[in-house]
Amino acid sequence: MLSREELEQALVEANEQLSQANERLLRQEQERAALFSNLSHDLRAPMTALTSTVALLREKPEIRGKEYGELLDLMNRRLKDLNAILDDIFLLGRMEDPDLVLNREEMEAVPLLEEFFYSCEADSRFQGRILKLDLEEGMECRICVDPGKIVRVLDNLFVNALRYSEDGAEITLSARVIPKVTPYNGEGECPDPAPERDQKLLQISVRDTGLGISPEDLPHVFERSFRGDKSRTPGIEGHGLGLAIAKSITERHGGAIRCESTEGEGSVFTIELPAV
Ligand SMILES: Nc1ncnc2c1ncn2[C@@H]1O[C@H](COP(=O)(O)OP(=O)(O)OP(=O)(O)O)[C@@H](O)[C@H]1O
Ligand SMILES: [Mg+2]
Repeated sequence: MLSREELEQALVEANEQLSQANERLLRQEQERAALFSNLSHDLRAPMTALTSTVALLREKPEIRGKEYGELLDLMNRRLKDLNAILDDIFLLGRMEDPDLVLNREEMEAVPLLEEFFYSCEADSRFQGRILKLDLEEGMECRICVDPGKIVRVLDNLFVNALRYSEDGAEITLSARVIPKVTPYNGEGECPDPAPERDQKLLQISVRDTGLGISPEDLPHVFERSFRGDKSRTPGIEGHGLGLAIAKSITERHGGAIRCESTEGEGSVFTIELPAV
């Protein structure tokens, strides 16, 4: 039987755990509320543009020719914006569904990375940036991934590197194989690294020589709907979902993603995925 002191101690610990769980829930709730408020704001802008263009066309049925074509183009662009936001919300929601099954295939990493890189080289959006591919010499690494989702992660990182840099900036995709090391958390006996000795990780980095991220913003970049100070500058598009999606996809593959950055110098995003 437990003594009175032990019971009191257990009660104190249970209370502490309950209040921590409560705080976590509160934080998640605040994050969710902020996400909804930001997203409804982002959805409203293209909706307003569409509504007023339709109203204009109804009021002035005489509009024809070049002006009519320009208004249709504007509506088309706004519809594309809406679709892009809805796709991102849908993907983020799906990635957080614990029952989601990824369409994994076992494959060599190099062809996947090369194909992605060459498609960016051929993409006119990247004109004005210097794209570099830096794969470890003779690299061979098999991974078991959902290729479409991994390409989505790389694409989000490349589009960010483009968006948050200026003409002439370099964007480098590099990859190498590293040994997996289990970090010692300081509790209990130090684990023998032997069981993991043969396990490898594929380390992929996307480095840019762009604007960089301030030390205040850096801890928040993977949060849903977070946008840094500079990215709120008019003219720079985005909804703060790309990195949250990248993190979610990487973690669903049993991997990890991190960012290092120096303001004014550039950023490097690193993904580590388990090799087969
Ligand atoms: N390569 C980068 N260089 C500088 N800042 C970056 C970089 N990548 C991300 N950031 C900062 O992190 C924020 C979050 O990035 P994220 O990709 O999640 O959203 P976004 O680019 O603003 O919008 P979205 O990707 O949804 O279109 C950005 O708004 C920007 O402030
Ligand atoms: Mg982005």
